[in-house]
Amino acid sequence: MSWTADPRVEQILARYPDKKSAVMPFLYMAMAEHGYLTDEAIREVSELVGMTSVQVSSIATFYSMYKRERVGSYLISVCTSVSCAILDAADVLHAIEDEAGVPAGETGDDGVFTVEHVECIGACGGAPAVQVNYELIEGVKEDKGRELVRWLRDAAPDTVLGDEMQALFGGQRSFEWGPAEGEGATGPVPALDALGTTGGSS
Ligand code: FES
Repeated sequence: MSWTADPRVEQILARYPDKKSAVMPFLYMAMAEHGYLTDEAIREVSELVGMTSVQVSSIATFYSMYKRERVGSYLISVCTSVSCAILDAADVLHAIEDEAGVPAGETGDDGVFTVEHVECIGACGGAPAVQVNYELIEGVKEDKGRELVRWLRDAAPDTVLGDEMQALFGGQRSFEWGPAEGEGATGPVPALDALGTTGGSS
């Protein structure tokens, strides 16, 4: 990626007294470019912030939302922390793994699905909670998890919308009065408006 031509670089650096503090937004920008963090991206970010590649790599591997390998068009994240576990999140995860043909932590050979289990995603009141490309669906049961996978495979939506998936595959929500869904997600990278990473590679 062309860091020198990107106006966000100076804007982000200006937010911090020490440029090392900009490492995480730069990693998100690099991931939006490639869909995952390449070795080259790690090296480029390390040069930008004045850290070693090993130091930057240690950050990129500590936080689970940074991906060091290519992920599928649809990243399905199933929360298996306590509130979700009590409400059978393990069964939901296994149903999704089985329907996608992809074990948790892996990406299918056809590049359609990556499945992962994650720690609490802040939707405990709507457990079990699932995300597709970081778009939230609450109250997902085993059968609906299977339907979700089939729908993604067959409909292959370019953009996934949390509200739409909630209506089709969700159940009990944490709050019924939340704001309406925005633009949705067009790729398996976190959509951070402030960094211009809405969308992203798939
Ligand atoms: S425990 Fe699953 S969202 Fe909090």
